[in-house]
Amino acid sequence: MAIVRYNQYDLRKHNTFGMDVKAEQFITYDTVDELIAVLAEIRQNGKPILHIGGGSNLLFTKNFEGVVLHSNIKFIEYNIQDGEELKVRVGSGIVWDDFCAEMARKNYYGSENLSYIPGEVGASAVQNIGAYGVEVGSIIQEVETVEIATGCQRVFQAKDCAYGYRDSVFKNRLLGKYIVTAVVFRLSTVPKVHLDYGQLKELREQNIVPSAQMIRDAVITIRKSKLPEPEELGSAGSFFKNPVVPKVVYEDIAQAYSNVPHYIVDEENVKIPAAWLIEQCGWKGKTHGGAAVYEKQPLILVNKNQATPTDIIELADLVQQSVFEKFHIHIYPEVNYI
Ligand code: EPU
Repeated sequence: MAIVRYNQYDLRKHNTFGMDVKAEQFITYDTVDELIAVLAEIRQNGKPILHIGGGSNLLFTKNFEGVVLHSNIKFIEYNIQDGEELKVRVGSGIVWDDFCAEMARKNYYGSENLSYIPGEVGASAVQNIGAYGVEVGSIIQEVETVEIATGCQRVFQAKDCAYGYRDSVFKNRLLGKYIVTAVVFRLSTVPKVHLDYGQLKELREQNIVPSAQMIRDAVITIRKSKLPEPEELGSAGSFFKNPVVPKVVYEDIAQAYSNVPHYIVDEENVKIPAAWLIEQCGWKGKTHGGAAVYEKQPLILVNKNQATPTDIIELADLVQQSVFEKFHIHIYPEVNYI
């Protein structure tokens, strides 16, 4: 158990974009009590705080003049089983996919569609990570936190987390106010599967009930075929959110492009994949300085050749402008600029 402090810390290993930036101070802690002690210390010197998980959803635009905090709270605790439902309490510093791997091994259903997403458990509950028809908010029961301003502990029930598409109360009204220390998930000991996503439909057609491990393996195969591995090519996964537009906007586009992919959100709104909009604008595989639009999935911007933060910001702006000029649709980053 220890608080570890570093000065002028190289953040390259803590942001999957691989930006070459430094933090004035970097502090890791192993327990909630240590976090509370660290926060009391920082409050005295008034430095800005940034809490990071795996750094897989952020873009450092410059050095961070303040304290970057990182959780090493690592445990997986199996709580009471209630019928077919099992509660699993997980420390914020556990690597997200280590948790998914463990659940799949035990054949507990719930997290398998979210396999292989980079990042850590604490950040998953802030970002409401989602993939292949599942969002993490739907399997969260509680989020345990510490308030930065007071050091007080507070438990949020899932209904108070305002989970939406890549959104939560921690990204909005309570942005920068709470640090997640643990998350309680609700998993199922019996199959509860989500196989609506294109390539996962194949599993449904096999006429067997797939194990959590089979779904996890299929998801990993899909992700490996489309998404760059952060160790090989820096990125923050999807750079933009998929835009939700009024039905009339979609219908206008569909007149010119009969094959426009889309998902019905509700009676008035339709979601259009940003990847398709970006591809139509001719950006797939294009570079700007050291940054590029990933050739296999244009929703992803990559650090192709020692990109600077400016290269990535400019490329993102250019892509946004093109999409707006061609389709009159604003696409917004899902990546947080720091
Ligand atoms: N598409 C193209 N060209 C391409 C690739 C895709 O036109 O080169 C179109 C296709 O019509 C395709 C559609 O875009 O059907 C959707 O593509 P995909 O299934 O790859 O998913 P996405 O909407 O681009 C979202 C998430 C991903 C998640 C996948 C699967 C967001 C911002 N991204 O991407 O999440 O893995 O769905 O559920 O919602 C992430 O957040 O970092 C992330 C990777």
